Amino acid sequence: MPDEPSDAAPDAPRFRDKPVSFVRRSGRMSEAQERAWAELAPFYALDVPRDVASTSVHPDARLVPAETYGRTAPLIVEIGSGQGHAIVSAASSRPDDDFLAVEVFRAGLARTMLDADRAGARNLRLVEANAPEVLETLLPEGSADEVWVFFPDPWHKSRHNKRRLVKDGFGAVAGRALRDGGVLRLATDWEDYALQMRDVLDAASELERAFDADGDAWAPRFDGRVMTAFERKGLNKGRDIRDLAYRRVARG
Ligand SMILES: C[S@@+](CC[C@H](N)C(=O)[O-])C[C@H]1O[C@@H](n2cnc3c(N)ncnc32)[C@H](O)[C@@H]1O
Repeated sequence: MPDEPSDAAPDAPRFRDKPVSFVRRSGRMSEAQERAWAELAPFYALDVPRDVASTSVHPDARLVPAETYGRTAPLIVEIGSGQGHAIVSAASSRPDDDFLAVEVFRAGLARTMLDADRAGARNLRLVEANAPEVLETLLPEGSADEVWVFFPDPWHKSRHNKRRLVKDGFGAVAGRALRDGGVLRLATDWEDYALQMRDVLDAASELERAFDADGDAWAPRFDGRVMTAFERKGLNKGRDIRDLAYRRVARG
């Protein structure tokens, strides 16, 4: 997983007309991860028709949640799920909800499947794809009850800021996937990214704050968010963790 990807080469932007928020690494999988992929992907990983790049989503691809999960239940989508700690913990403790992990880091997805299998979580699926395309295309409009974005890559050098996932336009992208009243939850340990998230999402007509409307406020820590290596690293470096939460306003 890119820990601090800002010095690495960007992911094949020549194939896409917009910059992506990740760097694809060759990062080899361990033997256990290779085995997990072969054994568990048929159940856990969605087979997505691609467009221009290997992590793209074809414009005609659509998830039908009731078919994928075999039932109708609230759907929680985590973007950039990393090793899967948050979503596996949530899926195994909330059997009445369905979960979708969106990630481009293969070894992280393999780890997520292994942990999900060990935990007996059958209400979770994974998709190896660029998250904005999943929100804009793969998910039916209004199908998600919650979208989670925890510790997205900060792209903290100013020349790389344009690669940030949460930037102008992200409110509309997340708002399309969320049902009316659904919630977008975010957390970051980078103060200037937290400020950018709040500016961009406060301005999005699809969303309203689900925390104190006072300009300088932050949301309380989401208690469904487990501690991950990224949060621990931020804390160890003395950074404050900021949570945000936005509700999808009712469609007109
Ligand atoms: C800093 S890590 C945080 C992982 C996890 N949320 C946590 O808190 O441990 C950010 C993750 O987002 C993934 N990512 C970045 N941009 C993405 C995108 N456009 N689509 C899917 N995953 C993405 C990266 O591969 C990486 O695993």
